[in-house]
Amino acid sequence: MKIRVAVLIGGRGSNMDALLAAARDPAYPAEIVLVLSNNPAASGLATATAAGVPILAIDHRPYKGDRAAHEVAIDAALRAVGVEVVCLAGYMRVLTPFLVGAWAGRILNIHPSLLPAYPGLHTHRRALEAGETQHGCTVHLVTQGVDEGPILAQAVVPVLPDDTEATLAACVLIQEHRLYPAALADFARALRRPLP
Ligand code: GAR
Repeated sequence: MKIRVAVLIGGRGSNMDALLAAARDPAYPAEIVLVLSNNPAASGLATATAAGVPILAIDHRPYKGDRAAHEVAIDAALRAVGVEVVCLAGYMRVLTPFLVGAWAGRILNIHPSLLPAYPGLHTHRRALEAGETQHGCTVHLVTQGVDEGPILAQAVVPVLPDDTEATLAACVLIQEHRLYPAALADFARALRRPLP
């Protein structure tokens, strides 16, 4: 049985696309059963629809700052379709203790840095400004601290002398698209493995 996965996106959804592409392989241990966004205009929702995957937009704005109430609606939507694992893919809202607790150990995130270095925003710019020679991306479990949970997988890219924020971001993104499907596959296989 494949692990039932929901992907939460904020916009472009290129990592979602990479997960969808991987999941087309019959041998892949997870299936994407829902793509959800807080942003009804997220372009990734159209991509998912074109790929034949159910989508849902749960706009946060009508909740007027009540983040937990917004998450109660998300949680209900996930449970309604039997989701087992949630993958954050460019979902840029910080989760409250409600959703993190409800899905503890079952929410993955991809972050564009070698955590614990550079949590938060503008990771590529900050890595360049710091003169790093290596940068990359991380897939980790989501806990309450922002970009802090246990690390599942990382990919390293060299920082080249003439790199700009844009070239470094593009180079890291290529690795993100390889890393996230591989990390989800490992995670899904481990979930299905029978206890000794
Ligand atoms: C990706 O680079 C992802 O790592 C980053 O947002 C981008 C989303 O792109 N996520 C974060 O910064 C989370 N802290 P995508 O919508 O094309 O997948």
